[in-house]
Amino acid sequence: MAQITTDFHLASQWLQSGDLVAIPTETVYGLAANALDPTAVQKIFTAKNRPVTNPLILHFSGWEAVNPYVKNIPEVAHQLAKKFVPGALTFLLPKTDRVPDIVTAGSDRVAVRIPDHPLTQELLRAVDFPLAAPSANPYGYISPTTVDHVQSQLGDKIPCILDGGDCVCGLESTIIGFEGDTIVLHRHGSVTVEDLQSVVGSASIRMQTQATDKPLTSGMVLHHYSPRKPVVLFQRDDLDLTKMNAKKTGVVVLQSCLDGIDFDLQIRLSSTGNLSEAAHNLYQAMHQLDQRTDIDLILIEQLPDSGLGKTMNDRLRRAAAPKA
Ligand code: TXA
Ligand code: MG
Repeated sequence: MAQITTDFHLASQWLQSGDLVAIPTETVYGLAANALDPTAVQKIFTAKNRPVTNPLILHFSGWEAVNPYVKNIPEVAHQLAKKFVPGALTFLLPKTDRVPDIVTAGSDRVAVRIPDHPLTQELLRAVDFPLAAPSANPYGYISPTTVDHVQSQLGDKIPCILDGGDCVCGLESTIIGFEGDTIVLHRHGSVTVEDLQSVVGSASIRMQTQATDKPLTSGMVLHHYSPRKPVVLFQRDDLDLTKMNAKKTGVVVLQSCLDGIDFDLQIRLSSTGNLSEAAHNLYQAMHQLDQRTDIDLILIEQLPDSGLGKTMNDRLRRAAAPKA
């Protein structure tokens, strides 16, 4: 099992010697390696069983620190950085030669993010390289939002987990690229479309988050972010419980429990219907029900389709998508 520590010096030693460390961020836990060491980065793909065609996000301590690794930063990116750095916004930018090809899967753009977590900020300042880090889960599975999630999923494959408590946001970062003055949204995330619009206006954001033949990001892969048990989404108006075995069905609801299913099989995301609180709790609820041996189906209520509800619905659609 991995060593769990709150000592960022210890974590930095593992990273400096080319090993992996799971790190806390405000979105989800990441699985970090020295981004400038291809051998260390390769360990990430191996531990996660992730295809090497799927590029990684580079994490930095501040916006200025990205400069040696990217070029031609558009003005609108600086504008967004003023509001969302540090934070849950990932920028796709043209890379310089300093970024190893393994990080970007050969693409000429690199994803960069400045995470807003005090312990990981200390860690990033203690090392002299950026950290390549995907979410710290086996490929395709739900992202981890607690140390326990990381330990149970990857604990036998990594030496160290930096314990920064439960992730505040609970959903991954939002990923954007740039085409001229247009912002291209590649993955919905903890920064909402409305948040972006509040800085740049609605005219200049284009969505590109649907699955394609050759997905650019795993946020575009249809079956992803998935528990091992089958997931079915529902809306209250057209839910027919007679079609399922209520004794073996786990349920995730936004605000109020369903009649006809035992309360101890149900998880409420927010007693007040607050979407930030729901986002914080969603993956934890999915992990919890996936681990229970007495249920064989997970029913999840669709959320209102705005703000963080849009991000959660996006993840839920992918979790419920057929595996083929
Ligand atoms: O909140 C987050 O973003 C977390 C924390 C740890 O920072 N990280 C995360 O990484 O969710 P990951 O690898 O699980 O998802 C990042 C997505 C992947 O779908 C990857 O394909 C995409 O970002 N991505 C990374 N670099 C890219 C690039 N150069 N071009 C296009 N997509 C890229
Ligand atoms: Mg991931």
